[in-house]
Amino acid sequence: MCGIVGYVGPRPSQDILLAGLARLEYRGYDSAGVAVIDGEGSLGMRKKAGKLAVLRDSLADAPLPDGSTGIGHTRWATHGGPTDGNAHPHLADDDKLALIHNGIIENFSALREELLADGVVFRSETDTEVAAALLGREYAGNGGDLQLAFRSVVNRLEGAFTLLAMHQDHPGLVVGARRNSPLVIGLGEGENFLGSDVAAFIEHTRKALAIGQDQIVSITPDAVSVTDFAGTPVEPEPFDVSWDAAAAEKGGWSSFMAKEVAEQPEAVANTIRGRIQDGQVVIPELDGLDELFVGINRVIITACGTASYAALVGKYAIEQWARVAVDVELAHEFRYRDPVIGADTLVVSISQSGETMDTLMAVKYARERGARTLSVCNTQGATIPRESDAVVYTHAGPEVAVASTKAFSAQITALLLLGLHMGRVRGTVADASVDVAELAALPEKIAKVLESEQEHVTQLAGWMADTRSVLFLGRHVGYPIALEGALKLKEISYIHAEGFAAGELKHGPIALIEPGQPVFVLVPSPRHSALVHSKVVSNIQEIRARGARVIVIAEEGDAAVLPFADEVIHIPLAGAMFEPLLAVVPLQIFAMALATAKGLDVDQPRNLAKSVTVE
Ligand code: G6P
Repeated sequence: MCGIVGYVGPRPSQDILLAGLARLEYRGYDSAGVAVIDGEGSLGMRKKAGKLAVLRDSLADAPLPDGSTGIGHTRWATHGGPTDGNAHPHLADDDKLALIHNGIIENFSALREELLADGVVFRSETDTEVAAALLGREYAGNGGDLQLAFRSVVNRLEGAFTLLAMHQDHPGLVVGARRNSPLVIGLGEGENFLGSDVAAFIEHTRKALAIGQDQIVSITPDAVSVTDFAGTPVEPEPFDVSWDAAAAEKGGWSSFMAKEVAEQPEAVANTIRGRIQDGQVVIPELDGLDELFVGINRVIITACGTASYAALVGKYAIEQWARVAVDVELAHEFRYRDPVIGADTLVVSISQSGETMDTLMAVKYARERGARTLSVCNTQGATIPRESDAVVYTHAGPEVAVASTKAFSAQITALLLLGLHMGRVRGTVADASVDVAELAALPEKIAKVLESEQEHVTQLAGWMADTRSVLFLGRHVGYPIALEGALKLKEISYIHAEGFAAGELKHGPIALIEPGQPVFVLVPSPRHSALVHSKVVSNIQEIRARGARVIVIAEEGDAAVLPFADEVIHIPLAGAMFEPLLAVVPLQIFAMALATAKGLDVDQPRNLAKSVTVE
């Protein structure tokens, strides 16, 4: 949520800012704005409710004098509706100073009162304008030292924030700070960048510096300096961005989501790459960290949304292979109760963005309670991995569509790798060769599902475009996939959808079945467990007898389901833990095709943000 970009250098900044904001669109937003300091040292600003196109049109109609220092922002409304006035940047010091913000300033009311008493007139309902006004007051009060004023402001703010600010009396300088909200530095030649993440500047540089919590940064065209909130210099951590700009573009696909669904074989292959040695799973990032996994009596996996369904698959895998109890907790629930955790608990967090506030706070909470922490994350330089004892990166590449697909597959892959790694370290998996072979075969099998079922499932979705409700049933690792299938449909098709554990059917959901009700059923292979398979086939008969329209996802050659299915979607044979990665693909295609049939924007569904950086 909220995208931030900053630029200082020799080039006109406006187009750089707009292109950066476009790359951050995926974070979700409802207004956008830019401010630039022109060659004469005067500050121009434009901000508009709506998509970036509205801002672009406004700038085309009435151009701002361009300059080579600038900041840009996409806003996802929290305090105050998505209006032009509430959009960022916010100005202060007689409109000579501009500030943008991502996060929530929790003590903004008290600060606002203080500033009102001082005679400040506010032009918006935002918490951000309070920070801008405070900065203006400090700046005026200290004789015009922007960095000093900025430091004093961040020390007065509570809550979560990334802030960038600039002042027309200091062209060539952008200052920034972060607390529990993302900000990274991009290093160019004679120019420097700031961004919510590397996508903001990836077309200009792949050299980056990570900024730690509670740190302040100043960039000029030739220098970058970072301090803590007390002003003590700190050395930022350099990293190279492995994504390229092309990977963040649509590349001819109808939507980012279509592209990302198709990229799943690659996302899974890249996540496995370098992590299998001599028939064993060895995760190099976890070298020397065996103590994370030994002597624990419990694992808690915490996440939100799609990542929490990947977590559920991870529970089955880690319990089976590492023989330790695993619970899955939604991050926002975990944090606000009093969980029984301590030094013998491993808390694994999963987050594509690495910035989801609920998940970040759960990780911090776990650390405070003395737990060991490990994160599974797709974004280099993100906050959650930096707050964890260890990280296993998924290598899905940039995921732009709000609805997560390839990141989900990569998360499950990483959890399977983690389960086998833990099993080896804990001595509970002696021979992983069969599972390792299953892992290695996954990319090709996913590609096969994409190839063989794309047309069939798309056609099915076309027929069902008027459907008002769809149910999904699964058992064992099919259960999280049923939940994910329902979530995908809700997110992008706006259709009521629910996923259930098939065994729960008789305890309630079966009351929903009436003639014509579409139900997807994930059927596990009978080779894994004839008993579980037969139970699911019984469930199919029960709903079929009540008139449900049954769409079955089953392995090739499973003849037992044929008499009871209206439609069968085939997936290749795979080991029990690996089936989810195949079964989820038709459900993603279904949701996407149905949303498309309804004429909806699959990449940016209403009300949703990709990266939820507020609680
Ligand atoms: C938001 C997104 C979901 C995502 C969830 C967790 O709700 O809309 O698609 O699954 O956040 O995101 P994370 O980046 O932590 O995986």
